[in-house]
Amino acid sequence: MSLRLLSVASEVYPLVKTGGLADVAGALPAALEAEGVVTRTLLPGYPRVLRALERAETAHDLGDSLFGHPARLLAARAAGLDLFILDAPSLYAREGNPYSGPDGQDWPDNAFRFAALAQAAARIGRGLLPGFLPDVVHAHDWQAGLAPAYLHYGREGRPGTVMTVHNLAFQGQFPGALLTALGLPPHAWSVEGVEYYGALGFLKAGLRLADRVTTVSPSYAAEIRTPEGGMGMDGLLRSRGRTLSGILNGIDTGVWDPATDPHLAASYDASRLEGREANRAALRAEMGLAPDPAAPLLAVISRLSWQKGMDLVLEAVPALLRHGMQLAVLGTGDPGLEAGFRAAAEAHPGRIGARLGYDEGLAHRIQAGCDALLVPSRFEPCGLTQLCALRYGALPVVARVGGLADTVIDANEMALAAGVGTGLQFAPPSAPALEAALDRLAALWADHAAWRGAQRAGMAGDVSWRRPAARYASLYRELQSR
Ligand code: ADP
Ligand code: GLC
Repeated sequence: MSLRLLSVASEVYPLVKTGGLADVAGALPAALEAEGVVTRTLLPGYPRVLRALERAETAHDLGDSLFGHPARLLAARAAGLDLFILDAPSLYAREGNPYSGPDGQDWPDNAFRFAALAQAAARIGRGLLPGFLPDVVHAHDWQAGLAPAYLHYGREGRPGTVMTVHNLAFQGQFPGALLTALGLPPHAWSVEGVEYYGALGFLKAGLRLADRVTTVSPSYAAEIRTPEGGMGMDGLLRSRGRTLSGILNGIDTGVWDPATDPHLAASYDASRLEGREANRAALRAEMGLAPDPAAPLLAVISRLSWQKGMDLVLEAVPALLRHGMQLAVLGTGDPGLEAGFRAAAEAHPGRIGARLGYDEGLAHRIQAGCDALLVPSRFEPCGLTQLCALRYGALPVVARVGGLADTVIDANEMALAAGVGTGLQFAPPSAPALEAALDRLAALWADHAAWRGAQRAGMAGDVSWRRPAARYASLYRELQSR
């Protein structure tokens, strides 16, 4: 039996992306199709989204019913996705980052911008569009967090709701005084509702009121139930019991395929790993690194932030250089960290190269050309770059947290002997532990056969959306038959 799903997200690859959320929202629908789930994705009509639409028609004119902002729903197709676009120029007609202005500050009306998205989702959920009545509404992150709340506080007869948290660090907290203005009933103001330590919490509302809560790895699902990992929400998350689960992310194995990737200098697969050599050489040239094929080429592709442990990489630079390794960094974010990597590259020309920006093609070339990818995150709900690394034959060196712990098999002696080790894990997320991992990496590099074995084991793993999509589909069906 087919199931109709409304997926609600504030970013969707390739239309608009600031992080992995967009990758997930963009790739999951196609994988769900194989499970008999028909997905429509609702997202805001930012200028770049409107520009990308192939076919768009007005599905419903909302007038100014969304907090006084003129709005309409467009039904559209773009990039292989069936979309509903919330076209509300006074909320979304702003270029650049979807959440913040040119000064880097969050837009002051973000509460209304994303409450409007959630409100539109709830109305579609209740049959606003005769052609598409969803069985389940799936809300991603705080920007969609009020959708389960609007559905919960509305009349009887609603679709099932799922709230997925991609990162508990972003909670969407706003002044409680907005309660009525956001169209929530007075009784929503309670710990059992949207109230969160005196604020109105968008994510909190979804975590409390959705029928099911998921996060993006089983380990993160366990971590966020603890005071250490719960970011203030652990009590609430514990109270959700078995209605909270972790479903690992996949990657789009069509977009990430070294055999067909148009960004690469040379294509390759697990049976033609020599093809990586041309990519290693090209990457060195592109990043201004010395041609030193015997040196392990390490890389980082990341938001530069505390979460990602990028300061640990800077601390480990002397150790890395002592091992004769090279480092290629692609990232943007925290100005202090950007300055740190710029300085490291200047201090060690030919050994460290830094590209401080966002560059999709280069991200692909790094995965194909680096020998090991460093992901020393302090916490990581899932992480996608280590999955790409596995698929591209680069060994992920990861902190043993969240989704990193769940996706990389530490190449200890037993794992190597069994042919299943795919990378290295270290704990805790600290510079000394990372340096110890670099020692292990150097030893593995010296054992060519073992290194090749780990590359092949990683490339043989299934990092596609096939299994995760089946898990989501069975979750949706539980709600459908409720
Ligand atoms: P997060 O969402 O926490 O930033 P993920 O690992 O889930 O981390 O997803 C990050 C996504 O963004 C991946 O697809 C990665 O390749 C991409 N990415 C991160 N930084 C850059 C960059 N500077 N240039 C290109 N792609 C990047
Ligand atoms: C968040 C997390 C990341 C996860 C991504 C997609 O941005 O930080 O770990 O992979 O969402 O779920």
